[in-house]
Amino acid sequence: MQARRAALKVTTGSERDDMSNEMWGGRYSAGPDAIMEDINVSIDVDRRMYAQDIAASKAHAAMLAAKGIIGADDAKNIAGGLDTILSEIEGGTFTFKRSLEDIHMNVESRLTDIIGAPAGRLHTARSRNDQVATDFRLWVRDAIDGLDRALKAYQLALAERALEHADTVMPGFTHLQTAQPVTFGHHLLAYVEMAARDRGRFADARKRLNESPLGAAALAGTSFPIDRHATAKTLGFDAPMANSLDAVSDRDFVLETLAAAAIASVHLSRFAEEIVIWTSPLVGMIKLSDKFTTGSSIMPQKRNPDAAELVRAKTGRIIGSLNALLIVMKGLPLAYQKDMQEDKEGAMDALAALSLAVHAMTGMARDLTADTARMERAAGDGYATATDLADWLVRTLKMPFREAHHVTGRIVGKAEAAGVALDRLPLAAMQEIEPRITDEAIRMLSVHSSVASRVSYGGTAPANVRTQAQGWLDRLKKDGV
Ligand code: ARG
Repeated sequence: MQARRAALKVTTGSERDDMSNEMWGGRYSAGPDAIMEDINVSIDVDRRMYAQDIAASKAHAAMLAAKGIIGADDAKNIAGGLDTILSEIEGGTFTFKRSLEDIHMNVESRLTDIIGAPAGRLHTARSRNDQVATDFRLWVRDAIDGLDRALKAYQLALAERALEHADTVMPGFTHLQTAQPVTFGHHLLAYVEMAARDRGRFADARKRLNESPLGAAALAGTSFPIDRHATAKTLGFDAPMANSLDAVSDRDFVLETLAAAAIASVHLSRFAEEIVIWTSPLVGMIKLSDKFTTGSSIMPQKRNPDAAELVRAKTGRIIGSLNALLIVMKGLPLAYQKDMQEDKEGAMDALAALSLAVHAMTGMARDLTADTARMERAAGDGYATATDLADWLVRTLKMPFREAHHVTGRIVGKAEAAGVALDRLPLAAMQEIEPRITDEAIRMLSVHSSVASRVSYGGTAPANVRTQAQGWLDRLKKDGV
């Protein structure tokens, strides 16, 4: 204790003359106790679970009364007091006290102010350990539901733009080199598919987290004749968790949700990165309006895609929070350890960041305008339809693909030397290399013929894109958005 106090003096003493430091440094005159409160307190974070905490307490009290563990009058008073607290918090008149550490003790203490001694019966057959696990499961469940709605709206925006751009041709890339023409609608639908799997991962996490820890008590269960099935049902859980030690000590539900969030954020970040590339004047395939760009304080011509850049950047903290909680959990013996209190701040921050990122990407998907002429020009650059010529040689002349690849390579070389696009190379020049080539082959080499021919399932043909986009729109709108 003495040593800790001395060490504190050293850190604050060097800045003794600084006003602000004097102001907060003064708090430490109480020594380790103030530090203890600062490291121990979680109310600044877990106050956000107030609604879940109150709902779980109400369910618990009602069950205690139903089982004759507390009196019906007490239960009624407890429920009424909890309702009052809920409206105080929502009305902004509730005073959260750091000295009461967390949301559970803040609520219980206020309940005692309001209803007196019966408040003390609420904590029968439970502990803050099962309380916090229950509250946070409910909170994460709500967060998942919110993210699911946001991702669905994002999919809808993308599918609408995809339908609009089913025929818009753009370059498709591998290695960020022009590869083959694709349709813009097809490209946008790729993100709709990713978001669908993201929603699937969240739905999976939600399904597994939806079991109730309430009634596991501190770690061993309780000697009171509680009905955990009843409280689970009231709170919308599928069942009570089967093992009390597991119930209070695992945070895999947070990890799983953060893993789903991390993957979703990577998907958003890749789209954000494409927006940054596409809006660069070097590329110029799309434009964002003033709604999603900022100007520069010095360069008047600038339109910076800040929102996309920030979506890309927020991925860092989302992945970071998953990493942080994995590290918190990895060495913890059963059952509850205070380390677990660190699960909430990162997770809440990460899920809020993801929600913001999804909304921002939805906004940009709706806002962007495509420079379709420029996209189409770029799609034809770099001999992007060379594969179409090779395919024609295979299909029409029954040439083995390897040979067709070789012949096409020589024709591309000729076009390159002449400085023209593939479909501008005279037929005679092509026939010098392969005499059986006809006009029909050249007609295949426009970017529009190229994409139109890609009708294989999942391919980029406008007809496919229209079917897929319309299918998504129907599915997304079916159960309301
Ligand atoms: N604030 C705590 C948390 O978030 C609640 C549980 C405290 N339990 C305990 N035994 N100290 O984890």
